[in-house]
Amino acid sequence: MAKDALTVTDERSGARYELPIERGAIRATDLKRIKPRDDEDGLLSYDPALANTAICKSAIGFVDGDRGILRYRGYPIEELAEKSSYLETAYLIVKGELPDEHHFAMWRHNITTHSMVHENIKKFMDGFRYDAHPMGMLVGTVGALSTFYPDAKHVLDLESRRLQTRRLIGKMPTLAAFAYRRSRGLPYVYPDNDLSYTGNFLSMLFKMTELRYKPDPVLERTVDVLFILHAEHEQNCSTNAVRCVASARTDPYSAVAAGIAALYGPLHGGANEEVIRMLEEIGTVDRIPEYLKGCKTGERRLMGFGHRLYRNYDPRARLIKKLAYEVFEVTGKNPLIDIAIELERQALEDEYFVARKLFPNLDYYSGLIYQALGLPMTMFPVLFAIARTAGWMAHWAELIRDPEQKIIRPRQIYVGEGPRAYTPIEGRPEPIMREDAVSRFI
Ligand code: CMC
Repeated sequence: MAKDALTVTDERSGARYELPIERGAIRATDLKRIKPRDDEDGLLSYDPALANTAICKSAIGFVDGDRGILRYRGYPIEELAEKSSYLETAYLIVKGELPDEHHFAMWRHNITTHSMVHENIKKFMDGFRYDAHPMGMLVGTVGALSTFYPDAKHVLDLESRRLQTRRLIGKMPTLAAFAYRRSRGLPYVYPDNDLSYTGNFLSMLFKMTELRYKPDPVLERTVDVLFILHAEHEQNCSTNAVRCVASARTDPYSAVAAGIAALYGPLHGGANEEVIRMLEEIGTVDRIPEYLKGCKTGERRLMGFGHRLYRNYDPRARLIKKLAYEVFEVTGKNPLIDIAIELERQALEDEYFVARKLFPNLDYYSGLIYQALGLPMTMFPVLFAIARTAGWMAHWAELIRDPEQKIIRPRQIYVGEGPRAYTPIEGRPEPIMREDAVSRFI
């Protein structure tokens, strides 16, 4: 009968080992048993970028990249985007089940009552340079929240975890909107808790002299759906950053600040910003072939294309593309959409992109919507960060509760110099810079 095990022969010693297989994985620590002699180190697995290593068991998000499937807690993303709201989806992600009416009302109340921030946060914001990137401001101010809520260090306490989760989901839109208003030289707008989560966010962004800001219902729903689509995506770079920092039992504000820093990068959440820059650089459809040529020679990347997991299509991109047209009905068409559509068409017919299974990801069309809403490019990843807070907090809590988790401490394969004696500076020869890729001097 078939056995859930892997049998390997170590050709160095001739020894055979049986490694149990659980849920399609062997335990990397089982490899330690494999050693040519008792006094030697056991085998390591080498996995740069953790491309084929499961670092945890998780029950939050599910991705099947080959089939283009994304589910939160078992619910298909398409259904949540159509029927749910961001706050309800955040509840699902954080707590594991959809709320009934009573629990949803309590959750809404609990999040809303945490939308205000300490007045000193405004002073922090004012301290940034006039042209500071709002993602940098968000990294700083979210990290600073740990100093306002020192109780957050009690990460093993369930009530404390619940409180920090409500606080952070409640405060993210306020911090994000303050960063935007600061960069525009506009006065900060306080939360209006009679509006929906996203309606209030739009109010804090765009309210001017009117007594009450009334969000356009189509735009309010659009931002809400975009938030749902960005809320969770299992073990990506930023979630891994949050988990890594949290594994040291650091408070969640500091851990999420690390997640925002990871999200900031152009290969991750910063890609939506880069897509717009790319489309503007292309400028006209006749310049697309020339631009694509540069993407194929490695001169540049086609931003908003490609994904480590999705090898068919990113289901979020499909939904966002549809959403873009609904928004343009209200805001007028973003002229860059014509270039985006033609660029996608040409790329999807090109052997280079076909062979590497490169498709538009969620960042390809989302920037066009944000731009149509009147937001500057630097704010695009900030919106991503607000939405992803639900996922980050769920992963944080999951990590803390997981008895198998410990402080994250990967291994390395040392390829540097062997032991050598220190020589005084006067007698030292000129240093010779090694040019090999791994240990080149910086
Ligand atoms: N344009 C051109 N070539 C690409 C691209 C691209 N966007 N993406 C991957 N490739 C090529 C890459 O050069 C490599 O080619 P070769 O095999 O000839 O060396 C091959 O495809 C595999 O690429 P990879 O870098 O090994 O793939 P990865 O899984 O490490 O990277 C990625 C995934 C998303 C970082 C990458 O596709 C990329 O840089 N895309 C552009 C940036 C982007 O849109 N990022 C948003 C990601 S989705 C939202 C999020 O999670 O934040």
